[in-house]
Amino acid sequence: MRKKFFIETLGCAMNVRDSEHIIAELTQKENYELTDRLEDADLIIINTCSVREKPVHKLFSEVGVFNKRKKKGAKIGVCGCTASHLGEEIIKKAPYVNFVLGARNVSKITKAVKEDKFVDIDIDYDESTYAFSDFRSNPYKALINISIGCDKKCTFCIVPHTRGEEISIPAELILQEAKKAAKNGAKEIFLLGQNVNNYGKRFGDPNAKKMDFTDLLEMVSEIEEVERIRFTSPHPLHMDDRFLEVFAKNPKICKSMHMPLQSGSTKVLRDMKRGYTKEWFLDRALKLREMVPDVHISTDIIVGFPGESEEDFQDTLDVIRKVKFEQIFSFKYSPRPLTKAAEFENQIDPDTASRRLSEVQALHDEILDEIIPKEVGKVYEVYFEELKSGGRVGGRSDNNFLVLVEGSEELLGKFKKVKITRASRHSLFGEVLE
Ligand code: 5AD
Ligand code: SF4
Repeated sequence: MRKKFFIETLGCAMNVRDSEHIIAELTQKENYELTDRLEDADLIIINTCSVREKPVHKLFSEVGVFNKRKKKGAKIGVCGCTASHLGEEIIKKAPYVNFVLGARNVSKITKAVKEDKFVDIDIDYDESTYAFSDFRSNPYKALINISIGCDKKCTFCIVPHTRGEEISIPAELILQEAKKAAKNGAKEIFLLGQNVNNYGKRFGDPNAKKMDFTDLLEMVSEIEEVERIRFTSPHPLHMDDRFLEVFAKNPKICKSMHMPLQSGSTKVLRDMKRGYTKEWFLDRALKLREMVPDVHISTDIIVGFPGESEEDFQDTLDVIRKVKFEQIFSFKYSPRPLTKAAEFENQIDPDTASRRLSEVQALHDEILDEIIPKEVGKVYEVYFEELKSGGRVGGRSDNNFLVLVEGSEELLGKFKKVKITRASRHSLFGEVLE
């Protein structure tokens, strides 16, 4: 009889991929199978995020619930960024937790599940060449890590403290993985890293071939079975002309770019140690719009960073108005332990931060109401990747709009031309033309 495990994943795409690695290791190297019923599980894993304070609070209430609902004798494991950050403290506060495994120690999951109490949060550990077993939750789209960790020193961010220094994965391994995934039906490859376009600065493997992110993109695009390439997250600072040109010209690279602005104020950007100015960001984003007219630009914005004056905030709104982002992920600044900004004076009061957050969201709604109706009547090549409720199937246009059509599984994994008949702020609806 195989033992059962349940896994909950919070946070970013990197965590989603880490969970796939955990599932692969436990089902292929150990005697486990996945269940979506917590009560049936012999092992319950939560893969955590620590980027803002809220999910960290959530962790303790959640493991408490797991402990109440779990079947007798079932184990509980905490993985991911909060595991890296809090380590043993988790077991001190919640003694029923059996293991704590850091975001950079995923390959040790097979060891962790065999022990009664186990903590490993070594952020110097190098997993960049570890041969994980293979599992993909979506057969049509393959997430592939290209680096681990992050070398940036953004003063608000806890990630360098949870995922450690940046190490690039050798291109041969990335290409091998992409080829295999594409042969198995994943026509879309999604390259992942904290800072993808810094690729190639340091390899753990001394024999790895030297190259940068733009070279890597070109090499992945040469794999015949790969039809689409996406990536996240690039850093605006490393968007040089060559990168933008290859992005614009290579037909396999999807025309959607995440450009995390964080703030539109050069002064705040300096305090955040982002390494670019308002002008640099605008230059890159507007150049991109000029080179790729139907490009979809998304961004991350933090409001209420320490010392953010009304004038600084107006700079953020100004950049939003000028770039007209198709998608904005906006957050109130959340002071994180171990980070420089948590020590800064001039912390902004929560009411001001909330008001600024609402202003960003209202402005973005205005922009969407201006740009989204123009989508009606357009025809997009849509790659269908998931079943949605109400007899609908969801896919993405090359420039990353979520497009919903009526249909069934037969559409999954296929490219179809779709005419857009209706548009809402968060998705487009259409009819398949062929
Ligand atoms: N407070 C608020 N938002 C944050 N992010 C990262 N750290 C913090 C923080 N301390 C946001 C950034 C980042 C996204 C993943 O999360 O916008 O790009
Ligand atoms: Fe991902 Fe950052 Fe959250 Fe870690 S802290 S899971 S890297 S978003």
